[in-house]
Order: sequence, then C-alpha cells, then structure tokens
Amino acid sequence: MPEPLTAPRVVLVGPPGSGKSTVAAALGERWQLAVRDTDADVEATAGKSIPELFVDDGEPHFRALESAAVLAALAEHDGVLALGGGAVLDLGTQQALDDYASGGGVVVFLDVTLTHAAPRVGFNQSRPLLLGNPRAQWAALMEARRPIYERLATITVLTDDLRPTEVAERIETEL
Ligand code: S3P
Repeated sequence: MPEPLTAPRVVLVGPPGSGKSTVAAALGERWQLAVRDTDADVEATAGKSIPELFVDDGEPHFRALESAAVLAALAEHDGVLALGGGAVLDLGTQQALDDYASGGGVVVFLDVTLTHAAPRVGFNQSRPLLLGNPRAQWAALMEARRPIYERLATITVLTDDLRPTEVAERIETEL
C-alpha cells in the first residue's frame, strides 16, 4: 500500500451522493487513520436518526447540532472527517474550515453530477431535504452550495466515474 509522505488531516465536503462516507473509509484504510462522520456524531448526540430529528425538532435544531458537531470534530479529531452535505451552509463552520485549511488541513470537495449522485443516494426516506421531488431538490441544493464548496476546497475531485479507492488515490496524488 502506498504511504503518504505525511499523515494529512482531511475533511470531505460535498452534496449527498458524492461519496463522502465511502471515500472517508477508503482514505482511512489507505492511510491507517481514524474516520469520523458528523452525521453519525449528530445522531449519537441526539439519540435519534436524522429523519427523526427533522420531523421531531426541525431543521434549525438539526443544523445547530451539526455545527456544534463539526466544530468539536475539527478541534478533536486527527484523521479523516466527512461532513454532512449541508454543514458548509453555517458561517461558523465556513470560518472553521478556512482556519483548518490555513493550519495545513486539507478540505476536499467531492464533486458529482446528478446522474451519478442519484443512484448512490437512492433518494429514499433517509435524507429529509430530498423528499418530494428528489432530483429537483438535489439540483437546487447543489446549485446553491456549489460556490461554497468550491470556495472552501483545497482540492476538488469529480467522483462521477470513480470508485472510492480511485477517489482516495486521486486525493493522495493531489496533496
Ligand atoms: C444533508 C445531508 C445529509 C444529512 C442531512 C442534511 C444536506 O448528509 O446531513 O440529511 O443538507 O445536504 P449526507 O450529505 O451525508 O447525505
């Protein structure tokens, strides 16, 4: 297995279906680094699933838990971190990611087109923001967020035709 010159700290951002969780796992395996996921942290803190959180407590409450989870993970976690797709909407999170990148951390934007995101996401009940007309919702989310993902990114990888291990290789090459 190729070894990176250093063990980088990496944060993955991107929309649902861009492969953040699977690429985080591939990077963790490749570099033997711990992997953390803010969606899982939020669910652990709340003691319920994200769909339940949206229904019971509303999106603003979810976002508050999410921004706290991101700040905690950035402060504590030495390894690979996957953020929920909408985490970058929070201004405090944007500032924290800028600081993280200034301090040598790498923010990777996993870009993806709708055609490739759709089968990965499955557009099932697990993503409350994609209910209704999932394709149109996804496209609207991506259009609104793309400038933020692009501005925050140290590296961008288009994941469309790549397997998670190939995305991990591409990231390592671009470090
Ligand atoms: C969201 C993405 C989800 C999850 C929540 C909201 C979003 O994470 O945090 O459903 O706003 O795009 P994934 O990007 O891992 O699907």
